[in-house]
Amino acid sequence: CGIVGYNGTVDAKEILLKGLEKLEYRGYDSAGIAVHNEEGVTVFKEKGRIADLRDAVDSEVEAHIGIGHTRWATHGVPNKSNAHPHQSATGRFTLVHNGVIENYHLLQKAYLKNVTMQSDTDTEVIVQLIEAFSKEGLSTVDAFRKTLGLVHGSYALALLDNEDPETIYVAKNKSPLLVGVGSEFNVVASDAMAMLQVTDQFIELHDKEVVIVKKDSVVITTLEGQTVERAPFTAELDASDIEKGTYPHYMLKEMDEQPGVVRKIIQAYEQDEELVIEQPILDAITASDRIYIIAAGTSYHAGLVGKQYFEKMAGIPVEVHISSEFGYNMPLLSEKPLFIFITQSGETADSRQVLVKIKDLGYPTLTITNVQGSTLSREADHTLLLHAGPEIAVASTKAYVAQVAVLAIAAYVTGKATGKAIDFDLKQELAIAANGIQSIVDSKDVMEEIAADYLKTARNAFFIGRNLDFCLSMEGALKLKEISYIQAEGFAGGELKHGTIALIEEGTPVFALVTQEQVALGIRGNVKEVVARGANACIIAMEGLEEDGDTLIIPRVHTLLTPLVAVVPLQLISYYAALHRDCDVDKPRNLAKSVTVE
Ligand code: G6P
Repeated sequence: CGIVGYNGTVDAKEILLKGLEKLEYRGYDSAGIAVHNEEGVTVFKEKGRIADLRDAVDSEVEAHIGIGHTRWATHGVPNKSNAHPHQSATGRFTLVHNGVIENYHLLQKAYLKNVTMQSDTDTEVIVQLIEAFSKEGLSTVDAFRKTLGLVHGSYALALLDNEDPETIYVAKNKSPLLVGVGSEFNVVASDAMAMLQVTDQFIELHDKEVVIVKKDSVVITTLEGQTVERAPFTAELDASDIEKGTYPHYMLKEMDEQPGVVRKIIQAYEQDEELVIEQPILDAITASDRIYIIAAGTSYHAGLVGKQYFEKMAGIPVEVHISSEFGYNMPLLSEKPLFIFITQSGETADSRQVLVKIKDLGYPTLTITNVQGSTLSREADHTLLLHAGPEIAVASTKAYVAQVAVLAIAAYVTGKATGKAIDFDLKQELAIAANGIQSIVDSKDVMEEIAADYLKTARNAFFIGRNLDFCLSMEGALKLKEISYIQAEGFAGGELKHGTIALIEEGTPVFALVTQEQVALGIRGNVKEVVARGANACIIAMEGLEEDGDTLIIPRVHTLLTPLVAVVPLQLISYYAALHRDCDVDKPRNLAKSVTVE
């Protein structure tokens, strides 16, 4: 979910709606805004997208203060009554919330027995508690503080009080939240992107702070009420980076940006013609006897590639873990572990809960992220940036490529420092890979045709590969699932025959990746096995390893860098499969780009 707030001198509605449009990547099940004027607080909410909310908003209602929310449902189905903002029983308080309140049932039983709930959400409990405490005589800010002292869980909150048309009360814990400052106005947003339309000056908030936002002042306090001073920072984001321009979809734009992203990464990590990473980061890596990579989704798949890089280029053993599993299934740790968190957004709650635990244990941490100043970047000891520019489409493309490139650089530089480096010029090989990606995005029509031939009516699909191609096959399958809703699985070529081959029927699409010379014969053998059982095989081979009858030949790059290039046709094939099947590419059902709940 994402939240926004505006307190200033012009009409708030449009600023809130525009802000929510920029936050739609965080959820788009339902949305709402509340505005406050002389008549009191008016709430508009709607199931569906911000466009649906826009239609529901009465343009006649003018107000200079308001809050808004776009939802990715956790508690309660996505419908109008569960949409935010939520109001207290008398309507005095109005609240938007991103996060999950774990003890809401207990709080409801303990304090709100006599209150009839209007929704199935955990959020409503917070707003009802605030009202209950204010009825006991507490001021709004004290009632807010008392409530926050009782709730367990994650939250980014913005609160309006019908009896105070000048204030937005704000607080956060675990969920991201920023206050943006301007002249004669201040704003609130889950992500700076939402409010770049009015300011590039933002103040970061820390967990359990309570902030009183007026149009001409921002007062940050601790939960206990002590004032905290914190200067704003400038968000280094170009508003044009977050527009899709002439592209029909962000995903297409972001795939096209990939060659440029790789080149930018080379520049960003280059000093005196050599690839480098900051010395303290290098020291942390070389001091460790084992690296633990923690990530979710596409970032996890990049981590699987990263494991091979650190092991092959730097000689350091690596384990890769899914962040949501790690918390309760922690492996036995080595003596000197280093934890690397890979996260495009830097906000994924599953990954953050691991970071919090690891910090408590006192181990060193490094975040590899696209978003400077994001929660996981701030909270880890070190950060390596992806330099991919904002990624808006829910399906991650350029961030994966950037993650793989930055992992390659980190491993390579480490290998050089420890004398274990394999002998190749990574800078030059990355530049060759960028050109390879360029030639693939320049021949999109081929991928469009493959998608039509293999996937237009498919019910399921398999991606197979060995070694690095196996890591990639999982990412290929995830991309296809996410945006086209075709059931897809990535498999180690040799493993398919141990069960899953039973699913192969006449015409089942099987995408086979052949970019690794030492296992090319093996994977071609697997292709024969599935074809013999009726599969419709699409063979994607790297130049030099191709055979007659292969479907697509991709440019030759260094054997370790093939995931960078071979992922691109898989992304494009998924994109066109989704289009052929009339799916919403940028906002696939049930998903959100940045999942800030565990
Ligand atoms: C969400 C997105 C995925 C993404 C994952 C991890 O589930 O839908 O595309 O890979 O989160 O996100 P992160 O920002 O931590 O890389």
